[in-house]
Order: sequence, then C-alpha cells, then structure tokens
Amino acid sequence: MPVFRVERPERGIAHLVFDDPERKVNVFDERAMSDLETALDELEHDKDLVGVIVRGKPGSFIAGADVNGIAAVTDPAQVKQLVSRGQSAFARLSGLRGPTVAAIDGVCLGGGLEIALACDSRVASEEPHTQLGVPEVMLGIVPAWGGTTRLPRLVGLSAALDLVLTGRTLDARRAVKIGLVARAVPQAWLLEQARRRLDEISGRPRAARADVYRPKSLAARLIDTTPPGQRIAFQQARKSVLERTGGNYPAPLAALEVMRGGLGKPFPQGLALEVEKVSGLATGPVCKNLIRVFLTSEQAKKKSPVAAAIPPRTIQRAAVIGAGVMGGGIAELASRSGVRVRLRDIQPQSLTRALETVRDLIDERSRKRRATPSEAAMQWSRIEPTLELTGLQAVDLAIEAVVEDLEVKRRVFGELEARMRPDAVIATNTSSLSVAALAEGLARPERFCGFHFFNPVHRMPLVEVVRGPRTSDETLVTAVTFARRLGKTPVVVQDAPGFVVNRVLMPYLREALHLTEEGFAFPDVDAAMRRFGMPMGPFEVVDEVGVDVVRKVAGVLGAAFPDRMAPTDTLDRLFEAGRLGRKSGAGFYRHEGRRRRPDSQVPALLGLGRRRTPTSPEALAERMVLAMINESARCLGDGVVESAEMLDLAMIMGAGFPPFRGGPLRHADTIGVERVAARLTALQAQRGERYRPAALITELASRGRGFTTADSGRPAPVRPLPGATVLEATG
Ligand code: NAI
Repeated sequence: MPVFRVERPERGIAHLVFDDPERKVNVFDERAMSDLETALDELEHDKDLVGVIVRGKPGSFIAGADVNGIAAVTDPAQVKQLVSRGQSAFARLSGLRGPTVAAIDGVCLGGGLEIALACDSRVASEEPHTQLGVPEVMLGIVPAWGGTTRLPRLVGLSAALDLVLTGRTLDARRAVKIGLVARAVPQAWLLEQARRRLDEISGRPRAARADVYRPKSLAARLIDTTPPGQRIAFQQARKSVLERTGGNYPAPLAALEVMRGGLGKPFPQGLALEVEKVSGLATGPVCKNLIRVFLTSEQAKKKSPVAAAIPPRTIQRAAVIGAGVMGGGIAELASRSGVRVRLRDIQPQSLTRALETVRDLIDERSRKRRATPSEAAMQWSRIEPTLELTGLQAVDLAIEAVVEDLEVKRRVFGELEARMRPDAVIATNTSSLSVAALAEGLARPERFCGFHFFNPVHRMPLVEVVRGPRTSDETLVTAVTFARRLGKTPVVVQDAPGFVVNRVLMPYLREALHLTEEGFAFPDVDAAMRRFGMPMGPFEVVDEVGVDVVRKVAGVLGAAFPDRMAPTDTLDRLFEAGRLGRKSGAGFYRHEGRRRRPDSQVPALLGLGRRRTPTSPEALAERMVLAMINESARCLGDGVVESAEMLDLAMIMGAGFPPFRGGPLRHADTIGVERVAARLTALQAQRGERYRPAALITELASRGRGFTTADSGRPAPVRPLPGATVLEATG
C-alpha cells in the first residue's frame, strides 16, 4: 500500500492522503517521497482537477523528515540531491491546476509544515495535539524544503524569524494569530472546513490564490516590510541567537543568512540558498551530535530497560514521603500526570510550603495557558497532604524524599513496608546513598529501587533510575515507565556512588577548586566553562544547588574515591560561615535577587592568596573538561551506565554539558582518545595521581578506537536506534 494515496470523495476534488501503514506517525523518508511523486504524477495529469486537500493520519499530520535518514548522510552532494528532490515535489504540489488546502490535525512539524506551506491555504484542528513548527535548528539544520523561504512570505519576517530560529511550536489558535493557518476549527469539522476554504480561494485569480502576509499594524508593516525595519529585525534576531547559543550552533546563523539572502528576491533564489546551507550543516559535527542526542533520548523514552517483555505495574496512586524541596516537586509532577498523591511530612510547615510551591506551579501553567482551569483544579484535587501514615494500603508506589540520612530513610522504609501492599513499589530519591545499603532490612528488596530527580524537579528533564542489586525486572520496568509518565527522560544506572551525573561532576568541581588554589579567580574559572558551553560555571552551580547539598555529596564521593575526589575544606569553610549559596544570599558569590556578584571576602575566608590571570579560557577549561571525560570513562568502564550514548545523554540533561559537543565521551572522540590519554598521562606525571587515565581510555587509545567511533579519526555512522524516527517538538 502506498504511503501517499489519492482519494476522490467527489468529482474534481482530490484528497492527497499521507498515511504510512507501517508507522504510528507519518515521517518523510525515501519511500514517502517516491510515493508523493507518483501521486503528483496522477494529479498533474488530471484535466478535471478542481481542488486538492492534503491530509495526514487522523491525529498525526506529518512529524517531519526521518531523523535516521539525516543521521546517515555524510556526503554534502547527497544532501543536496535529497533536499532538491523534496523542494521540487513541493513546488509541483503548489503548481497544480486546482487550489490546494492542507487540513492539519496532529503534529505538523519540519517537512510536515513545509508541505503544508506549499499549499495555497491551511486549516488546522484546535485540539491540543495539533502543533505546528519547524524544529530543524534543534537538530542543527535549517528548514530546507522551502520552509525558510516561504515562512516570511506568509507570516511576515518577525514571526518567521521567531519560528525558524527557536524551533518552537504553536497550537492552531496561535498559528491563526500569525497567519500561518487561515482557520482553527474543531477536529470533527476539519475536512468540511478545508473543503469550504477550497471554495473560497478558488474564486481568486491564479496568481493571487495563495495566502500571503498581511501586516496587522503599522509597526508590523514597518518592521516586516521596509528595508530599515527588516535590518533592525535581522540585527535583533542575530543578537538574541548569539546570546542564547554563544555562537556555538551554526544552524540558526545559517537560517538568518538564508532569510536575509532570500528576502524580496525571486523564490528560487531562496530555495537555492536553503540547499547550499543545509548541505554543509547536515554533514557537520554539530548536527551529528544533536541528532545522536535526540535519538538517544528517544531510546531512553521508549526502549524497555530489560531484555524480557515485562509489562509495568499500573500506578494510579502514589505516596511521596517528605514534603521538602524535592518531595514537593515530585508530588506536583505526579499530580499533573494524573496520579493521586498522598504527600506526607512530619512537619506541618513543610507541607504548607510544599503546597504553596505546587499552587504557584499550577497557577503559572494556567497563566501560560498550558493547563485549562478544569485541568488545574483536577491536578490540585489529586494531592492529599497528610501528617499521618495512613492511606498507604491503596498506594501503588511510594517515593521517599526525606533528609539525606541512612538511618532516617531506613526507618521510613520500615514504616512504609509495614503498611503498603506487598506488590507495591518503594523508591528512594537519594542523591548519594547506596540503594543496596538503604534496602538492608527490607522484607521485599526486589520491590525497591532508586530515583534520582534533579532540582528543580519541574524543570530538569533527567531522572536517573537506580537499579539496586536486588531490584527485580518488574520493579525497574515500573519505575522507568513511571518516570516517563511524569514526562522525564529516564537513564538507568547501577547502584554506585554518585550514580552518573554527580560522580562525573565531582572531579570537575574538585579540579575547579584546584585551579582557584593555584590563584585563578572564581569568576574566571566559571567564565571559562561558560565559554566551553556549560550554562553555568562550577561555582555558580554550587551556589544554585546549595553548598550544604554539594558538601554532603562531596563527602560521600570523597570517601568512595579518595584518590581523585578527596574532600577539601573549602565547602566546610563556606558551610560553617553560613554561606549556603543563593538560598542564604551568599556562597562563592554574593546574591541579590537574580544577580550574582563576586565577593571580596571569599578568597580571605578560603585562605586563597595570589591572583593569576589565565592565558586563555580554553587553557583554563582544559583540566576541568579532562576530569569530566576521565570520570565518564570510569563510569562506563565500571558498567554504571549501559552505553557511551546514555552517559552523554545523562550529562547533557542532568548537568548541562553542551549538547553541541555531544556529551563528554563524544567530546573525547572529537579531541581524539589518544590525545586525551597523552594529555592525562602528562598531567599525571606533573601533578599527581588524580589524572591517571581511566583503564578504558588507555585501552581505547592503544587500539586506536573511540568511545563512539569505530576507528579514531573516522566517525562511525550514527547507529539507528529502534523507535527513534521522528522529529518531535523538543522545545
Ligand atoms: P528537604 O530538607 O527540603 O526536605 C526533607 C523533608 O523531609 C522535610 O520537610 C522534613 O520535614 C521531611 N522529613 C524528615 N523526616 C521525615 C519522616 N520521617 N517522614 C516524613 N517526612 C520527613 O530535603 P530535599 O532537598 O527535598 O531532599 C530530599 C531528598 O532528596 C534527600 O535524600 C536529598 O539527598 C535528595 N535530593 C536532593 C536534591 C536537591 O537538590 N535538594 C537533588 C536530588 C536529590
């Protein structure tokens, strides 16, 4: 059965239907493109054609191009050929005898929106699942099937810049506001309304058939249609791209050039620019890294964590024990996902504070129209605060988030196990304790596992799901499925100190402290890592997370790995001085509102003397980056995480490692593992044992191999991962 078919519901009217029987969502791949060409042949030969409606599967218009296809291309000439082929197919669609209308229901992203843009007009369903956008820049490319060139002509320059440069998606109503679609209608009337739209535009002369941009105000006219206004729009867009990306992402800058070069020029000139830019981008390292991260995150969201086909247990009711920073956040998330939550604490004021936070988050979502008033009310009603240990019989899963203390936590598990059903799962949200040690004394350790959520819970996408030595497959599957239901990306890790993210971050922080002991200033060290691409430098992170929290984790990791993470008294001194970071107004920095300033008292407090000026930010960053790479290699070598891909994903999502570099292990490959090994060995000779290269680094270097590449210097094709095929709205 062809992926594109032509249906004839009435005389003269054709429906061009994209419905891939082998996929849940439609994506453009080689087969789809060739079937589209065949369908176009048929329509072009139809002398009686009065109009065409383009539609997708119900609930899924078209999710974009096949990402595996983009991952696989390595030759710019091949990209050119693929892109030109799509451009000409879409040009044939817009050149058909009769008018064309896209009837959009469900995701309409990337190539999906571009085929809709090639139609004369568009109507879309109002359902929340209908999302329109061009997220290509998030994968390191630009919309090149005419999207970058057509959008400014349809929605005006400013709105087009916003859509293309951020990759964000719009629902149908917002799409109507900017003129991207002509009408937002209830799903049930979509086809009827598309048909009506065909009639409306068929009255127009051929050259004026397609919808075009009509500025809604004088200001919009000035900015979008006059050369000085356009110049300002481009300047501002460029500035904001550079602020957001530090210039590390070439795609949005290339998109700007395509838009600037094509504006007011004949249409083919814009298309030619799209082809030229995308062929370099799609074969470049940043695109490959971003696609690898995307495919790995799809795998983390979909693949079963165990080999056997074990169904997860259904979680309808959960208990969260401890209504502190983390417990409150977890309860909010679970209630938002439709789970009834009993939130228990021993202190009434903790419950009050947690409920206030939940309320604020719900209100914010309502304000931003991410939740309807009834959804907000339902979410609120799903949280039951309590000081009692009651209602636990009905609970399918309990997550403990009390203070980080082995004995206190063990006591809580005893209380829970005595009251919960034997088939229910108990989980700990520890940041540093051993899941095996916590499980000691439990009657059913197979039903016990760890979650490591990150703070703030509602914003951080990652959860490390910790498999204890006795955790059963069913418990693990249930935990992973639950994390996904909460909208998080779970990475399964073994029960080892610091799991992955904290373990890799700790030697990095230690190295940062060594640099300050050698005379480099905190702001210089932080700036060097921001320049590398981290969203914050190491000391800025400590201040945000809390000196007390980091100190606790540092203690545990220092005891586990004294050779390279031995505790220093820096964190103790800050802690004892009451400098806990942002929450106490001062830590490594002084904090006022959202601002942070260097604090001249800190060097004296920490006994830091002379001041050195770094030769370059890169030189300063090198040792910190090597520390992360080395510990990442140890984690992988020890089997804490299943693959280099998952480790890189965890560091990107949990620690803000720059996605364009692909993660610490991918970055090691970019440097070259042999060079990494040589550099670490030299530092070890100069400065000591903490630089000793991980066994895996030495081994790979000696075999001329990389972590993510087959041979050093020659990147292996990105491995296609099961179920990872679509461009999604990742914003
Ligand atoms: P918190 O100090 O904000 O909250 C702990 C809450 O537990 C308090 O409200 C306290 O009254 C309550 N509590 C103490 N004993 C209890 C008991 N027996 N029964 C019920 N409630 C009890 O702590 P936070 O920061 O929320 O941390 C909780 C857990 O999450 C810790 O294990 C921590 O290591 C972990 N974690 C913390 C992160 C962070 O950044 N704060 C990040 C990741 C994990």
